[in-house]
Amino acid sequence: MEAQLEQIRSQALAEIAQAQEETAIETVRVKFLGRTGSISLASEGMRGLSKDEKPRIGKLLNEVRTAVTQAIDGRKAELEAQKDSAALSGLDITLPGTPFQVGALHPITQLLDRSIQIFRRMGFALADGPDIETEFHCFDALNTPADHPARNEQDTFYFEDGRLLRTHTSTVQIRVMEQQAPPVRILGPGAAYRRDEVDATHLAQFTQMEGLYVDKGVTLADLKGTIEFFFRELLGSGVKCRFRPHFFPFTEPSFEIDIKAAALGDRWLELAGCGMVDPAVFDSVNRRRGDDAYNPEEITGFAFGFGLDRLAMIMSGATDIRLFTENDVRFLSQFK
Ligand code: PHE
Repeated sequence: MEAQLEQIRSQALAEIAQAQEETAIETVRVKFLGRTGSISLASEGMRGLSKDEKPRIGKLLNEVRTAVTQAIDGRKAELEAQKDSAALSGLDITLPGTPFQVGALHPITQLLDRSIQIFRRMGFALADGPDIETEFHCFDALNTPADHPARNEQDTFYFEDGRLLRTHTSTVQIRVMEQQAPPVRILGPGAAYRRDEVDATHLAQFTQMEGLYVDKGVTLADLKGTIEFFFRELLGSGVKCRFRPHFFPFTEPSFEIDIKAAALGDRWLELAGCGMVDPAVFDSVNRRRGDDAYNPEEITGFAFGFGLDRLAMIMSGATDIRLFTENDVRFLSQFK
């Protein structure tokens, strides 16, 4: 029995050493260690041994099994290492790598994301509307009469079919109220277009963020609180907000919002328009809806519109607004 075990050992080790691939090793493993392999059979043969032979042969059997198992593991590792080094041959892993350019969001997108997060905490949901609009959504429904200067072809991009590029995001107010009964609390960020001469402070396309809150009992105090909370969160607690009476056709009363903050150079800057939704706007929404969901006797609301480009420009210290649309990576990569 001893001689038989020694023979198994040397034969197994020889075959393992010769194996050139993993499948060959597996075959050897089954041949010697598998359920009907020679080591397993030998171990069954232990039963017929006498009491004094058993411990000695048992010990030897264990030794052989361990030796064969170890040899298999060792050979497997060797073959793997060979494979790895073959794969790496001709490759100098000490060479410096090619730098990988990591992109970042555009500074205006970053500002927009932060702003949306702040308004989200006050329960505002996102809303959307098309950039190519009807005169109805851009002007009529917003109580803007046919002879209003904003409707002039000199100020607005018109298409031949009478549609236009929206001149403000206030169109989203109408789009949402047409679809949804009060209460409504939405933010409508997006592009707006005007036929402005492009210079260091004007673009023909800019970014606005519209807000609308309509419900029973919404007051001017809610509007002021909301705006003040927003700017404090965005620019720090030292921020001052000024509501300067103004006129917009679609709000009454209306205000322009001036902000003063250390982050903005500590001077008053006009950053937004706002006001209480004019009952005439509710009337035209009701007419479109064919119901009285926005009954001005029961419902009030406020709206605001921020220009984000100017804010992004001042927050970043940029002196030319055109930098935000020229896609010059040297400028943009500063805002990672
Ligand atoms: N739409 C106005 C503008 O573009 C801003 C505004 C929005 C004013 C909502 C009042 C209410 O100037």
